[in-house]
Amino acid sequence: MKIEAHALEHYYGHEKVLNGVNITIEPRSFTAIIGESGSGKTTLLSILSTLMQPSFGSVRYDGKTFQELGNIDLFRRHNIGFVFQFHYLISYLTLRENVALAALDEAKIDPLLGNLGIERLSGRYSDEVSGGERQRAAIARALINSPSVVFADEPTGNLDTKNALGVYELFRRFAHEGTGFVVASHDKKIADYADVIIEMEDGIVKKIHQ
Ligand SMILES: Nc1ncnc2c1ncn2[C@@H]1O[C@H](COP(=O)(O)OP(=O)(O)OP(=O)(O)O)[C@@H](O)[C@H]1O
Ligand SMILES: [Mg+2]
Repeated sequence: MKIEAHALEHYYGHEKVLNGVNITIEPRSFTAIIGESGSGKTTLLSILSTLMQPSFGSVRYDGKTFQELGNIDLFRRHNIGFVFQFHYLISYLTLRENVALAALDEAKIDPLLGNLGIERLSGRYSDEVSGGERQRAAIARALINSPSVVFADEPTGNLDTKNALGVYELFRRFAHEGTGFVVASHDKKIADYADVIIEMEDGIVKKIHQ
């Protein structure tokens, strides 16, 4: 899915935290949004991912405005995956059950868990696996319905370097197999894996590296 953001401005109360953001996210690419704490990454990601409406400006999804998307729940279910810093798995369910909860097609679960290298852990509860394994289960949940784009906010915030690089590696692999990733992170190492790096500073796009 191509995502085009035009002249985005966002205010929290009187505080302006996005100040004229214009970006295009190409389909099937791995885009990283980097920048200092408070630069507006989460705000921008929340707007791009349909979770929040900007104060001013617009976002188009394959040419359609938010208002033209129709049933937004249905749109999200079929097109978008989400991954957050704190994986938000349900601790009363096994890794497999957590993924199954979201799955439209049961048959895809085990192959996907295998693809992410956690098939042998699928019967364990989320507090019985490591942080990196937990995050891979959260990524499986985001990918299970083959979304066209996955949004992730600080997905490696809780991981050590080795596991963080493993997650970027997965994003790159899945991006090259056709899923788009838009990932906000303050970790500069993500730049070695992403196709496009959007550098935020004080609510504006400071630089775009491709
Ligand atoms: N819900 C909110 N209410 C008021 N101000 C907010 C809110 N969320 C964020 N802000 C402010 O907006 C600015 C941008 O915040 P944002 O969360 O987008 O930054 P960020 O780049 O994601 O930072 P971090 O790296 O710390 O996650 C900051 O000044 C922050 O204090
Ligand atoms: Mg943030």
